[in-house]
Amino acid sequence: MALKKLVAGNWKMNGRRADLPEIEAISAAAATHPGVDVALGLPATLIGPAASAVPGFAIGGQDCHWQAAGAHTGCVSVDMLKEAGASFVIVGHSERRTDNHETSAEICQKAQAAMAGGLMAIICVGETEAQRDAGAAISVVTEQLRASVPAQATGAIAAIAYEPVWAIGTGRTPSAADVAEMHAAIRAELTAILGAEGANLRLLYGGSVKASNAAELLHVPNVDGALVGGASLKAADFVPIIEAALA
Ligand code: PGA
Repeated sequence: MALKKLVAGNWKMNGRRADLPEIEAISAAAATHPGVDVALGLPATLIGPAASAVPGFAIGGQDCHWQAAGAHTGCVSVDMLKEAGASFVIVGHSERRTDNHETSAEICQKAQAAMAGGLMAIICVGETEAQRDAGAAISVVTEQLRASVPAQATGAIAAIAYEPVWAIGTGRTPSAADVAEMHAAIRAELTAILGAEGANLRLLYGGSVKASNAAELLHVPNVDGALVGGASLKAADFVPIIEAALA
C-alpha cells in the first residue's frame, strides 16, 4: 500500500517573527489537503512562536543533541524542541555533515534520542557530485544509511530524506530514473537494516524541488514525499508542491 506522502519544508537559517504569516498561510493550505502530511523545519528560535500561531500544525527543528542536557554550548536537546512545540526534527542534513563535521555515528545518536523522546526523526543522506561521478552514489548512501539509521526506527517515528548534495540549492536535480534507482536501493537497504518495518519508512526526495518539477519527482516509485528548502519559504511557492503530492 502506498504510504501517505510527507512534504516537509526546511527553512534552514531563515525565518523571523515577520515571516509567521507565511507559516499561517502554509498551515491553512495544508489543512485543506488532509491527504498529504505537511511539516516545516524551522530555526529553533521560531519554533515556539510558530507553534503558538498554528497550533496542531507540524513544526520541527533542524538538529538536536543526543544528550538531554549539559555542557554543549549552542546545542538544543530533544526535550527543548518538544517544549517549544516541535513534533519532529531533521538530523544529518548535508549542510550539518559538512559545516559541522557531523558523522553518521553522531547522526544515529541524534535520531535515536529524537525517536526515544517523542520526535519523528527525518534522517538525511546523499552523495556529493564527485561521488556520483565516480559511480559511488549508491554505495555512499547505503553506507550512510547503515551508520545513521537506528535499529529502533519505525515508519511512525522516522523518515529518510535522500538529498544529493549537488542538487541542494543549485536548481539541478537527478533524472527521475536516477531518483527511482536510488530510492529502490534505499528501500532495499532499509529492509536489510529493519526487516519488514523498512517498508514503512517514508523516503523523501530533496534537492531543488520546486513547483515545476514536484509532480514528476513526487510520483517516482518509492518517493513518499519531499524535503524542500528554498521553495518552502513562501506559501506561494510551497503550496503548489503540497498539491503536486496529491495529484
Ligand atoms: P533546496 O534545499 O530545496 O533549496 O535545494 C533542500 C534541502 O537542503 O533540504
